[in-house]
Amino acid sequence: MLSKPFRQFGLFATALLLACSFNVAAQDHATAKPKGARIQMGEGHFNRDAKPFHYWDKEKEIPAVCARCHSAVGVPQYLKEGKNTPAPHVKNAYACTNCHADMLTYQRHTVEKVSFPSGISVNSGDNNTNLCMTCHQGRESPASVNKEIEGMEADTPNAKIPFVHIHYYPAGATLFGTEAKVAYEYPGKPYAGRNNHDPDANVCTACHEPHSGTVRVDACADCHRGIKDLAGLATIRKRSKGDYDGNGREEGLGRELANMKALLYTAIQQYARTVGGSSIAFSPDGFPYWYADTNGNGKVDSDEMRPNNPYKAYTPRLLQAIFNYTYLLRDPGAAYHNGPYALQIAYDTLQSLADSGKAGVDMRGKTRP
Ligand code: HEC
Ligand code: HEC
Ligand code: HEC
Ligand code: HEC
Ligand code: HEC
Repeated sequence: MLSKPFRQFGLFATALLLACSFNVAAQDHATAKPKGARIQMGEGHFNRDAKPFHYWDKEKEIPAVCARCHSAVGVPQYLKEGKNTPAPHVKNAYACTNCHADMLTYQRHTVEKVSFPSGISVNSGDNNTNLCMTCHQGRESPASVNKEIEGMEADTPNAKIPFVHIHYYPAGATLFGTEAKVAYEYPGKPYAGRNNHDPDANVCTACHEPHSGTVRVDACADCHRGIKDLAGLATIRKRSKGDYDGNGREEGLGRELANMKALLYTAIQQYARTVGGSSIAFSPDGFPYWYADTNGNGKVDSDEMRPNNPYKAYTPRLLQAIFNYTYLLRDPGAAYHNGPYALQIAYDTLQSLADSGKAGVDMRGKTRP
């Protein structure tokens, strides 16, 4: 076993080496801008100490159903066989060969189409984007919600209804909106399909560096004037019209959606108190995320944050709302991946809670995109 400082140095040196050599290797000679590859241990897909790579360390292996996205080289097996076998523990995040079919040309694995949890398959027309969407698609769909609430009264709490969790970073499904069926869509409403961004900014790698996942803010700035940093992205507004959140101002889609999410959380809590008869609160820190807020102070206190303290008074309407709200949280880029879809989902979820008459929601002034 190497001593800790030595191991840290080793890692640092390797990272430095990779970062330098590949930045050079990947220079785009036409524009002389570094493009494509920047590899840094500890970042994004090489965040080797992160939870997605270590959740199973105390178990024998990584279960087959999780191995596609959580093992070092789960993708090629999944692409070939359509499923995975259990995989060994991960030490250094993803292997290069998880995405690259050839380590001389760095060609990526061929991904002809992507199947979403809804069962729908799409081909984005861009192999890299298909590759990204193989993992960035979530794990549940509206069908999982419907299965839990079939035949039940919208506003009657039922202790048998469980929380249904979309899973993390489902960006690819958002990009395709209703064509992928990721969020719970309310009957009779039209929803946006694939995001209609500029054709040059419609694929994952136009906006993200593929290894670290970093947002290419300077690419945004090429087309959206005045953008200087990540925080500025939330102010971007172009051709779309409407004051979605009803605060009297037409703001950037990122801001509009953030405000809608805040309104939704307040409405969810009020609805749960009046209809479920018991309070609910969300914490990102651990399963089951939605807890019974036993003292009703609106947040999850440390004594409430127990795996055996899940919220137990879901109604069908509340499950739909929670599924969608959690989805909007789990895709922190939803306003950019598909602003119209995300805002439609937020609006309709709020409208549904308003329809119950028990959530204290006022829809006046709000606009559905
Ligand atoms: C279709 C791809 C996919 C599958 C299959 C999948 N996950 Fe994930 N999971 C992800 C992605 C992407 C993330 C990264 C999210 C992040 O870092 O916040 C993630 C993150 C996680 C995390 C870390 C959450 C956190 O708080 O950071 C846990 C735990 C997890 N998954 C558990 C599971 C389990 C258990 C299974 C199998 C039953 C599974 N996942 C199957 C894509 C998947
Ligand atoms: C999560 C998937 C993924 C992993 C893991 C990955 N890469 Fe990549 N890599 C890509 C994608 C996608 C591109 C193409 C980016 C583009 O065209 O904008 C790329 C591009 C590159 C390029 C530039 C090649 C070119 O044609 O421009 C190099 C070099 C590279 N990767 C090296 C590596 C190395 C070395 C590793 C392992 C340390 C690695 N990659 C791991 C997805 C990945
Ligand atoms: C094998 C599954 C897999 C593939 C393929 C994959 N990702 Fe990821 N991605 C993950 C997981 C897991 C994480 C979370 C890593 C962590 O927790 O640090 C992640 C993280 C990210 C992040 C957030 C990075 C951060 O630290 O904030 C972005 C952005 C991202 N991926 C974009 C992409 C893009 C773009 C592609 C295609 C080039 C891609 N991913 C391909 C599984 C995958
Ligand atoms: C139009 C540009 C654009 C496109 C196209 C795009 N993204 Fe994003 N993505 C963003 C922005 C902006 C964010 C939000 C970053 C932030 O606020 O931290 C984001 C956030 C994310 C995140 C969450 C990371 C985090 O730390 O918040 C993931 C994962 C992700 N994108 C993956 C993808 C994948 C996979 C694709 C392709 C299927 C994709 N993105 C396409 C712009 C884009
Ligand atoms: C190649 C040019 C180009 C690039 C690069 C680009 N965009 Fe755009 N973006 C556009 C155009 C053009 C529109 C207007 C599309 C429309 O309304 O039909 C747009 C629309 C948007 C919108 C919706 C605005 C509205 O009013 O609905 C957002 C948000 C956005 N872009 C964010 C981003 C982010 C974030 C990035 C960088 C990660 C980015 N864009 C990169 C050209 C680009």
